[in-house]
Amino acid sequence: MDLFEYQARDMFEKHGVPVLAGQVAETPQEARAAAEAVGKNSGGVTVVKAQVKTGGRGKAGGVKVAKSAEEAEQLAGQILGMDIKGHTVHRVMIAQGAQIDEEYYFSILLDRANRTYLAMCSKEGGMEIEQLAVERPEALARIAVDPNVGIDQAKADEIVAAAGFDADTAPKVAEVLKKLWDVYREEDATLVEVNPLVKTKDGSVVALDGKVTLDDNASFRQADHAALVDERAEDPLEAKAKAMDLNYVKLDGNVGIIGNGAGLVMSTLDVVAYAGEDFTGGKAKPANFLDIGGGASAEVMANGLDVILGDEQVKAVFVNVFGGITACDAVANGIVGALKSLGDAASKPLVVRLDGNNVVEGRQILADFAHPLVTVEETMDGAARKAAELAAK
Ligand SMILES: Nc1ncnc2c1ncn2[C@@H]1O[C@H](COP(=O)(O)OP(=O)(O)OP(=O)(O)O)[C@@H](O)[C@H]1O
Ligand SMILES: [Mg+2]
Repeated sequence: MDLFEYQARDMFEKHGVPVLAGQVAETPQEARAAAEAVGKNSGGVTVVKAQVKTGGRGKAGGVKVAKSAEEAEQLAGQILGMDIKGHTVHRVMIAQGAQIDEEYYFSILLDRANRTYLAMCSKEGGMEIEQLAVERPEALARIAVDPNVGIDQAKADEIVAAAGFDADTAPKVAEVLKKLWDVYREEDATLVEVNPLVKTKDGSVVALDGKVTLDDNASFRQADHAALVDERAEDPLEAKAKAMDLNYVKLDGNVGIIGNGAGLVMSTLDVVAYAGEDFTGGKAKPANFLDIGGGASAEVMANGLDVILGDEQVKAVFVNVFGGITACDAVANGIVGALKSLGDAASKPLVVRLDGNNVVEGRQILADFAHPLVTVEETMDGAARKAAELAAK
């Protein structure tokens, strides 16, 4: 889960990372009140910042300086409702204005390829960091961080030395890096990025922006994290699937997909995408990922179909099941049970491919049921093609 900047700010504060005052607002009036409180220690100057989970907010006009609470109200009126790279701005953060001397960059992330963590740091942070990384990679220090050691004093010193900070600034930055490591480790994050980390005119080092990605696999031991979920940003079908404990990801196509086992579902997506290209000129594409797992009971099948049929974009559904521990006859009974319990709600063509244990019995059950919307295909490719053709009609 990605956090909003204001959530990252609060998390930083909790772990002792220096941040400036900040308050979130959903209306221009709230922004004005927030600016009155937040601007107290900065001569009334605040920064109105769009809260969207995407980068480049500043360049898109979503970060603006306000010299007074009235101006903050007015700017919030412009920024709220704005669209930044497909994300609607529902909230702004009113941040205390900083007197910036220099802008730096720092991040810690999971380096999957090297099976370790990676810290990146630059003296030249700010809005052009992506460009810097491409054009002058030597200006961005990259230091591996051993997960068992983390960023201790020695590692922090190594990072700031590699980034080339001067003798006065280096120890101040190193202090902040150790705190940011605490955030990364204690919150089970896979990314903590601060751009910019600034040195202010009075010489202190402060995190002015924050991007945090939390590892959802660790949510069982991070009870506080549930409160950070943004219901508004969540896809309603994904939310419904999650409530039913289904492993579902919404995609942008028209062929609904149900399979058992993540690997089989992944290859089903590929096969449908190819069939869609080959036989419908790109008019059919997978609409979702849905893995109903090993024990495909009628109830799980019904829940899965219910979610997929609720997707208005879906025109046909491909059920691709390999009978293993749960044999094909049990799966076929699951499909029959699901169609019975859904009744008229099952309104779109269903292509079923069964193989594996008790496949003959499974196909017989579907043949006997003889539902007008169900087509049984023997091969995965044949079923993908059929589903693509039905969806493209
Ligand atoms: N509280 C603040 N006081 C003064 N200037 C600020 C403040 N917050 C941000 N800025 C300035 O605005 C710039 C952009 O802000 P910020 O980094 O938060 O957004 P962004 O980088 O455009 O967004 P993103 O990181 O999502 O791409 C900063 O580089 C900094 O110069
Ligand atoms: Mg930034």
